Amino acid sequence: MRDHLVFYVNGTRHTVRGSQAAVTLSDYLRNGITPRLPGTKVACAEGDCGACTVLVGKPSADGNGFEYQTIDACIAFVYQLDCCHLLTVEGLQHDTELSDVQAAMVDCHGSQCGYCTPGFVMALHGLVEQRTCDNKLTDDELRLGLSGNLCRCTGYAQILDAGHELNPSTRVGAASHFDTKAMLADFAAIDAGPVLVNAGSTPEVFLPATLEELLARRAARPSATLVAGATDLGVQHNHGKISPSDILVTMGVKELDQLEVTDNELIIGAAVSWSRIEAYVRDRVPEYYQILTRFGSPQVRHAGTLIGNLANASPIADSIPFHYVAGSTLTLASVGGRREVAIEQFYLGYKQLDLRPDEVIVSVRTPLPTANEHLKLYKISKRRDMDISTVTAAFWLEIEEGIIRSARIASGGVGPMVVRLPRAEVLLSGEPLTLEVMRAAGCVAREEISPISDVRGSANYRRQLVENLFVKCFYDLSSNLQPVEV
Ligand SMILES: Cc1cc2nc3c(=O)[nH]c(=O)nc-3n(C[C@H](O)[C@H](O)[C@H](O)COP(=O)(O)OP(=O)(O)OC[C@H]3O[C@@H](n4cnc5c(N)ncnc54)[C@H](O)[C@@H]3O)c2cc1C
Ligand code: FES
Ligand code: FES
Repeated sequence: MRDHLVFYVNGTRHTVRGSQAAVTLSDYLRNGITPRLPGTKVACAEGDCGACTVLVGKPSADGNGFEYQTIDACIAFVYQLDCCHLLTVEGLQHDTELSDVQAAMVDCHGSQCGYCTPGFVMALHGLVEQRTCDNKLTDDELRLGLSGNLCRCTGYAQILDAGHELNPSTRVGAASHFDTKAMLADFAAIDAGPVLVNAGSTPEVFLPATLEELLARRAARPSATLVAGATDLGVQHNHGKISPSDILVTMGVKELDQLEVTDNELIIGAAVSWSRIEAYVRDRVPEYYQILTRFGSPQVRHAGTLIGNLANASPIADSIPFHYVAGSTLTLASVGGRREVAIEQFYLGYKQLDLRPDEVIVSVRTPLPTANEHLKLYKISKRRDMDISTVTAAFWLEIEEGIIRSARIASGGVGPMVVRLPRAEVLLSGEPLTLEVMRAAGCVAREEISPISDVRGSANYRRQLVENLFVKCFYDLSSNLQPVEV
């Protein structure tokens, strides 16, 4: 079994053993290597500002190159880099020539103090790298694509101008001056099996390659910390809330990579990142896609997973209301076998799960809406992008000829767990879809929830939001449906 990590940083091979394997990527780059790479900045250390944005290249499915995506280095760990090519801002310049993004930022005056600039440059490179057509980036694409990057002094207009300057049709690839073939050949020659770094001392890091290896380790080490994309765990680590001594990484496990629709059910494995889900559901479940475009930032979605969001069990997790109303089922596995749990039964209380210490979540199976089933998802937050929800809600209404045959409604941010709203559901069932009926259900719903007051809103404000969302849902749905004669 391999006892070290292997990866490349700006074309240079790195072999990592010992405690370095479990430090954050930003610490590693800035302080853990010689020469240091301090171009990757750290401002918030919690994934919120994008100053630490880097590009992680993973070998592509056809084996011919790397696919580069942005992540926040401050909430990523070195062990997540195994068999990857990491590109930092120091690696962009070729000889003395600036990259096209760097040149555009200079030309458009996209930088003042410069602290955020490497992050913006990497984020813009990420957008160009992932472009599948030669059209220039639109304003919307730039605004969404840069939603994970904050600048406190330049003002965004000049940065957007730089983005508009870029011409994907003449792109050369941010890493084109590195020897991709040699790096890929090196990875191909490395033992593809599991990796155990730091055996017998802490922090021990295990990267299984198969589900069998993952489950065997989970059985032997039930208190080990399971890590998927680390976007929740990285923040907890930086806040000093956790310091895991035993780490079990799921992202390299082939069996957890499932992403498909079978028999009108969407199946998502535990190692599938949000950005892959986002691309996959764009046309298949547009309502889910819309919510995902407002989930964290591109950097967070490239690393984070649905399963991590479900397991983290926050009452304001953006994904849970959809999976409640869809009636999703989780597949859990241990060395003893598999079992299936309906998502609503999975949550036993605030952050309490029906998950045994030797179990892991393998995947989640979600029925998709049929022709008469109408799905609406809502996220209410103080800011449109990159913000934590104040209230979330999901409506799944089966409507035939203007009559609501059945209703499933869920809401988050209104109690210690995401909840269904059964009294409102009963009130709606069998009634015509009218403003009056939806208003009445909203009045009932506000009494079904028990929100608290906190920095994001008072309890009463949250009640009002939930009530109002019934009205919004009516207008959103009725614009697509035949009006009802009553
Ligand atoms: C800047 C920022 C913005 C964010 N924005 C949003 C947002 O808009 N909406 C939102 O809902 N969340 C948001 N999050 C929270 C976070 O990104 C999500 O919860 C994400 O989906 C977590 O996935 P992960 O793979 O990174 O989980 P990790 O951090 O790796 O793990 C989270 C939890 O899941 C457990 N876990 C992981 N895999 C398994 C498994 N297979 N079986 C059992 N347990 C497992 C881990 O042990 C851990 O307890 C944000 C986070 C950051 C840092
Ligand atoms: S330092 Fe702010 S996102 Fe990493
Ligand atoms: S240029 Fe100063 S923070 Fe952006």
